[in-house]
Amino acid sequence: MSAEPLEIHLEEQDLARGLREDVRLGLTADAKWLPPKWFYDARGSELFEGITRLPEYYPTRAERAVLARRASAVAALTGAKTLIELGSGSSEKTRLLLDALTDRGGLGTFVALDVSASALRASTARIAADYPGLRVRGIVGDFTRHLDRLPTGGRRLVLFLGGTIGNLLPDERAAFLSAMRAALEAGDWLLLGTDLVKDPSIIVPAYDDAAGLTAEFNRNVLRVINRELGADFDPAAFTHVARWDAACEWIEMRLRADRPMRVRIPGLDLEVAFAAGEELRTEISAKFRPEGVAAELDAAEFAGRAFWTDPDGLFGVTLARAV
Ligand code: SAH
Ligand code: AVI
Repeated sequence: MSAEPLEIHLEEQDLARGLREDVRLGLTADAKWLPPKWFYDARGSELFEGITRLPEYYPTRAERAVLARRASAVAALTGAKTLIELGSGSSEKTRLLLDALTDRGGLGTFVALDVSASALRASTARIAADYPGLRVRGIVGDFTRHLDRLPTGGRRLVLFLGGTIGNLLPDERAAFLSAMRAALEAGDWLLLGTDLVKDPSIIVPAYDDAAGLTAEFNRNVLRVINRELGADFDPAAFTHVARWDAACEWIEMRLRADRPMRVRIPGLDLEVAFAAGEELRTEISAKFRPEGVAAELDAAEFAGRAFWTDPDGLFGVTLARAV
């Protein structure tokens, strides 16, 4: 079966409006910030895939190790008929679950939702080709806004992998989990990947690699704003910063202005001044403790959990049931 045409829940204008609102809000704030979802144009999605193969970036390998060991248990426990993946990217690790669920029999539909149309188009085409008989749908959408558009019925398992939940701020996480619960019915399942708190000497290099790929990924958000809003950011004039915040237990990516700059953003009729050394926060990536994940899931009315880690205890995967 070929992948069905992508369903577009984020119209071009909708996407452009979201970017305009976020850039205006974030770049006119006292402490400048941008939400991480704007990294992921076609180039950003490719850069992220490159990051997942870096020696320093352990989360993808560690999560894959958990899934390789536990996919058959997930298939047996959930008996999912519909598999839904949020922030799916390349859906590479997802194949471990697709294999286990199709071996078991009963999986009818795979639905991937991502803000990146290019990543979605490539991943759904590959999966449709490799899993004949499976209905494959791609939804270009925002998982902070479009969970009400997910397919209903048919014993669902929702995947939210990669630790992407850590890219949401704590209040955004709580809102996301309760919207997720509201979109599900009692008995549906959630499989959630969370990177775990560990020594910052392991975390920091994962976000500041020797090859400079993460720095390019970070600067990509400026290129997106240049292209979409006609801005004149000079990405080369910003230094990539990755800083561990021990109190919040998250790593922040920032872009530090190397010199004073005035950036014009014609699409917003806005000019933004940067002082030399001023930092723009572009992402948080929260790291979790098992008890914290459990408490957040409890608060959103998910229960019946299994919690698994890789042999090195770097990354956690939780299977939870909507109650
Ligand atoms: N799940 C994959 C990809 C993680 S990268 C993995 O584990 O490797 C994060 C993915 O989430 C990207 O593909 C990005 O385009 C997508 N994404 C980020 N913010 C999003 C949002 N608000 N809504 C939908 N997708 C989003
Ligand atoms: C997608 N997300 C879980 C990645 C992370 O590790 O927070 C994004 C990323 N940022 C820098 N490197 C990778």
